[in-house]
Formats: sequence, C-alpha cells, structure tokens
Amino acid sequence: MNTKFIIPLHKPFWGKEEEKAAVLAIRSGTGVGDLSYSQLLAQHLSDILGCKFVLPTGSGTAALELACACLLRKGDEVILPSFTFSSCANAILLAGAKPVFCDIDINTYNIDPSDVEKRITQKTRAIMVVHYAGFACEMNKVMDIAQKYRLLVIEDAAHALGAKYQGQSLGTMGNVGCFSFHGTKNVASGEGGFFTTNDKSLSKLAEIIREKGTNRSSFMRGERKKYSWVKVGRSLVLSDILAAIALEQVKKLEKITRLRKRKGKYLLKKLQILSSKIILPTEKEYCDTNWHIFAIRVPRLSRDRVIRGLRSYGIEASFHYLPLHTSTMGRKFGYKTGDLPVTEEVSATLIRLPIYPSLKKSEIDYMAAALEKSLL
Ligand SMILES: Cc1ncc(COP(=O)(O)O)c(C=O)c1O
Repeated sequence: MNTKFIIPLHKPFWGKEEEKAAVLAIRSGTGVGDLSYSQLLAQHLSDILGCKFVLPTGSGTAALELACACLLRKGDEVILPSFTFSSCANAILLAGAKPVFCDIDINTYNIDPSDVEKRITQKTRAIMVVHYAGFACEMNKVMDIAQKYRLLVIEDAAHALGAKYQGQSLGTMGNVGCFSFHGTKNVASGEGGFFTTNDKSLSKLAEIIREKGTNRSSFMRGERKKYSWVKVGRSLVLSDILAAIALEQVKKLEKITRLRKRKGKYLLKKLQILSSKIILPTEKEYCDTNWHIFAIRVPRLSRDRVIRGLRSYGIEASFHYLPLHTSTMGRKFGYKTGDLPVTEEVSATLIRLPIYPSLKKSEIDYMAAALEKSLL
C-alpha cells in the first residue's frame, strides 16, 4: 500500500480469519494446488454463484487464458472491448486467435452490443464481455447476438464477484466466467482467480489444460490409478495457501458487498451537488452492482489536474484503462486514434475514486470536499 495517501485506492478486507487460514494452510501441507482448501473454495463458490463447475486459478489472467485455450482455435476472431486490461487480449492471442476491438456504451462503460454486431465476420468465434467496475453488461442483448450468430461468450468477471444481472450472478451466463482474487479486488488473496462453467465437457477439458495437460484432477478424485500427459497444457492452478485466504474472503462476500454498497451509495449521495460538473456512475435497472470501482467522469481538459488535486489531499484517485486499440500492441493490429470514439472519450475523462469496505463516512465526506475544491 502507498503510505503517502491518507485514503488509498484499495484496501483488502482482511482480518484474523485470513491470517489464521494462511498459517493453518502452511502447517497442514505443501501449499500445492487442488488440496482441501482449493476444493472447499470451489464448492463454496459453486454454491454461491449457482454454477456447476469452478476451477481455482493462479490469477484472473490465468482464468482468461484457460477459457481461450479451451474455446478458441487458430485464426478465430474474438470481439472484445478495447476499454479493458491487457490480459483479455493476451489470452486471445496466446490461443492463436485475433482480438477485434469494439466500442463501449457511454453510460455504462461496458461493451456496446450494437457495435459488436457490426464487427462480426465469418471468422468470429466468440464475444468477450467485461463487466466493468462490477456493473453488468446488457447480457440479454449479448446472448441474443451470440445465439443469432452461433458465437461463444466469455465473461470477464474479474470485477464482478457479488454483482448481478436481473438477479443472476455475473460470470455465470456465458459459456465461461473468469474471476480475479487480485489484491485490489473485492475478494482478494493477493493473486488468484477462478474459472466457471456449467458445461461438463468444457470443465473436463479445462481441468486438463490447467494441470499441465495431465489428467491429474481425475486422479486426485480417485477416478484413476495414475495420471499422465494427455494434451498440451499449462500450469494454472492456485496454491492451496492462497485458496485458504480466498475461502475466508468468499465467506465474507455478503458482508464485503453490503459494506461496499453502503459506501458507494453514500459517496454517490455526497457527490450529487457536483452533478452539473461531473458524470456520476449510474446503476441500470437490470444491474445490481458490487461497487468494485467508483468511476466518475470530468471534462477531458481538467481530468489530470483533478487527479493531481485529489492526490494533493492524500486521496489516491486514478485514471483507468488506456484503450488497448491505441496501445503499442493495438497499433500493431492496425488500429489508430479515432477508431473507437466512445472508448477514447471515457478513457480520457474517467477518474477512479477510492472505495473499499472499511472506508469511513468521515473519509467519504473529506473526499467529496476535496473533489469539489479540485474541480475549481
Ligand atoms: C477486466 C480485467 N480482467 C482481468 C484482469 C486480470 O486479473 P488478475 O490481475 O487476477 O490476473 C484484470 C486485472 O485487474 C481486469 O481488470
């Protein structure tokens, strides 16, 4: 954590339970993946999300790479937002497929279904959606497009544990969901993540790829006497020590989400007086957010100055994603500035404000006052 800030951008909601679990996990075994803590974690997540198969992974990135390794073939195209993390595009490329960037909605900062449809070609195999900030994408529209063109849907739910779309958990509607336990996420184990699916054969394939291309998972369940190399695989399992921490965190999911909602709503209320100067986050009727990120937007020319202002008050405000299509790598695929105007506008005007469960009311008041002064 950066100690120069009075209010950091993130603070994990860790306590004695996580400390105890980590110590017990160290004392009880080797810390390798898929031991008892990982199994309990997977079972717990499966129950919470109402999803049949859960595979803990070393990171959210690992879950995305696993999804793409399972679902994509060389030469496929995958449509994804440019307003996301590099992991999404890397996972597609590592599977031999091509990322096709599309624009986002100006209000939700999520993939724009009408722009997705424009970019579909004969080679399109999948749509990768990102539930930005824990606010749901318009999943009915996305799933309709996927059905119409027979496409797969990969949900990047790295921000979205505990958030819902029309009552259904994010990350459980597409073919695969990919979640993150990164130290900055609502539920955190430092590094970590998991892969979800309701498709049994996909889960079996993922198990093998995740375990260095072996059928070790089946061996661990006692289904075979030995395990061996059966496919090209990777090493994507989560250490049992981190699984022990993640399990304690998942047990607190309801509390973490409730606290974040309380803080998010209070901050939103405090900032209403600035609504003529800034754009506040909006929760659509279909969305039940987990307030992973509190993102506001300000005029383009003042954005960096406002961030500097907030930082001078000890508040770790931050910009967010620089569009992938205008990055060094994006340009190598032929994209240029101007190609995705909404993404570029959002990226140039967005400010992330701190939000975490232990954020105090007085700190939110302080933040609101500092923002008002920084906007002058
Ligand atoms: C949208 C998105 N997807 C995936 C990831 C990667 O997750 P991890 O850091 O667990 O690899 C991130 C990272 O923050 C992210 O923002």
